Amino acid sequence: MGSRREWAEGRIEYLREEIERHNHRYHVLDDPEISDQEYDRLFRELQDLEAEFPEFASPDSPTRRVGAEPAEGFRKAEHLAPMLSLANAFDEAELHAFDRRVRTLLQVDAVDFVSEFKIDGVAVALTYEHGRLVRGATRGNGWVGENVTANLRTVRVIPLRLRDAHPPTRVEVRGEAFLPLSAFHRVNEERIAKGQKVFANPRNAAAGALRQLDPRITAARPLRFFAYGIGYLEGAAPETQVEALKILGEWGLPVNANHARQDRIDDVLDYCRFWRDRRDSIDYEIDGVVIKVNRFAYQRRLGTVSREPRWAIAYKFPGRQATTRLIEIGINVGRTGTLNPYAVLEPVELAGGTIRTATLHNEEDIRRKDIREGDVVVLKRAGDVIPQVVGPVVERRTGAEKIFSYPERCPVCEAPVVREGGGVLAYCSNRLCPAQRLEALKHFVGRGAMDIRGLGPQTLEKLLEMELVRDAADLYGLSREDILRVPGFQEKSAENLLSALDESRTRPFERVLFGLGIRHVGESVARLLAEGFRGVAALAEAPEEEIAKIPGVGPEIAGSVRSYFEVEENRLLVDRLRRAGLVLEMETAAPPELLPLSGRSFVITGTLPSMSRREAKDFIERHGGTVRASVSNQTDFLLAGEEPGSKLDKARDLDVRIINEDDLKELVLRP
Ligand code: IVH
Repeated sequence: MGSRREWAEGRIEYLREEIERHNHRYHVLDDPEISDQEYDRLFRELQDLEAEFPEFASPDSPTRRVGAEPAEGFRKAEHLAPMLSLANAFDEAELHAFDRRVRTLLQVDAVDFVSEFKIDGVAVALTYEHGRLVRGATRGNGWVGENVTANLRTVRVIPLRLRDAHPPTRVEVRGEAFLPLSAFHRVNEERIAKGQKVFANPRNAAAGALRQLDPRITAARPLRFFAYGIGYLEGAAPETQVEALKILGEWGLPVNANHARQDRIDDVLDYCRFWRDRRDSIDYEIDGVVIKVNRFAYQRRLGTVSREPRWAIAYKFPGRQATTRLIEIGINVGRTGTLNPYAVLEPVELAGGTIRTATLHNEEDIRRKDIREGDVVVLKRAGDVIPQVVGPVVERRTGAEKIFSYPERCPVCEAPVVREGGGVLAYCSNRLCPAQRLEALKHFVGRGAMDIRGLGPQTLEKLLEMELVRDAADLYGLSREDILRVPGFQEKSAENLLSALDESRTRPFERVLFGLGIRHVGESVARLLAEGFRGVAALAEAPEEEIAKIPGVGPEIAGSVRSYFEVEENRLLVDRLRRAGLVLEMETAAPPELLPLSGRSFVITGTLPSMSRREAKDFIERHGGTVRASVSNQTDFLLAGEEPGSKLDKARDLDVRIINEDDLKELVLRP
């Protein structure tokens, strides 16, 4: 039996190292070597052996990552060197000032910097002794933090042992623990389902996870970690931040690959701008860029004043979250009659603009998040999208908040509200509802549809109000006198509108079809339907099964098309549009293979002198060509205008012929 025990000791050691190695490959390198099943098998074997031979138990075994018993509370953890905070720069002038200050203090002409992501998570210090993780702590007051070792052990990307044959006696690694955005959304969904309040942002969720007394809860939140510095080191020290990051990586710690070394502050500024505009492309929140003087000798000379080092600065991106009071919930009536709730807010600054309203998606969402009128709410804006209400700040309720209930009648025309989609979506039941009419007209004249310039929402509203039009077909019956009665119109603008209307008569069938605003019929579905049925007559008569047979068109779309054409009023509208001279068939002047651009594939880039890109696409397709989104070796021509994008380089690489708008027209005349 002694021999089995000996064997087990060696096997346990081997398994621990193997599992850690696979953890590293999987979580840090994103390059797993074995399947999840094989990993699980190794893991289980280790668990079994540890159960059989408890004398070989060890706190840094990977089996401990899944969570030990709840602890009593957190012990204090004194940092080996203070964890400093950072001064902020809110604009580029402040970065220039930082650069000048650094160079003046050092009395040098140039310094090199390292720019790193400022990850919006929780600062953490990890102490390794002889290569083993012995302690993990939060920042606390900078000198003393909370000992959260058991929780940090559950974070899979944090190595329990450094990958170094001769690790330093002692080292304190500094970094940021954070929750990726995808995991943050998942955690919040789960909380909503359990009736718990949502976390306002990933940082709160990460902090909450780290401060769990029960490490199993931490383990259930997929925290990640990036190391960004060495706080304390007994042993040979690196000379620069770049070297420090390299060593951290070699030790098996995850280091963010997006750091960059720059020799000039202007390059730092470029880096900051670049990531400020692309922060939405990464799966975790960054709230800025940390700029550090690269050389540690310089860092030591610059020193620290009042807990902020003079050798580093945080360039902060404009904020994307704010809190404000939700005054009331309003309802918009959409094109197809959907009732869309929105929040009326006390105006608040957010990401460089003043926000007064925000979307609320639907009734279900309001209920799930328990958003009430009068609540203080957290708002967020990601990229260019419309601001959203994340959730209420429950702690700030006064008791005066009102639970919102959906109206039983349409707020515009007072027709009864009907429910669809399992009750999630509410619709106004009145097809003649003025709000629906306005939305339908906006859609009809919009970009992907008839693209009629000079018909903005206010003009449409006026036209409806003055009863000059009731639907799309009426637009084509407008006379110059009619238009001149609309406030704001003059001879010239009336003339322009008439010719825009006239010009829109040439839009191809699929765009008219899209413009009808049939529920579920977007631009690409409209095109599939147009190609499949060639004309509105065949489509209007087609049974649901026929429509659903078109590849890319499912039963839901088919049902919606069918019900559209079953409504007498819609058929009449289509008839009147035909009589107004709109295109309701595919143009089949020549069989497609005889068209001048047949079999030729195009890609469009840049701004063309006289056509919009959409017009160019229509033009090419009308003449038998196809238009693709990206250049490949199947591409015959790149149609390039002013300020072309990277497609131009790609086309050059692949020897694709590059043409301009005139060349295109030439091709059609003399293919
Ligand atoms: S350096 C003295 N680098 O930002 C150096 N900090 O106030 C101080 N942070 O919560 C830290 N990413 O945890 C540094 N690449 C990075 C960082 C970073 C995020 C956090 C840090 C602390 C705050 C600094």
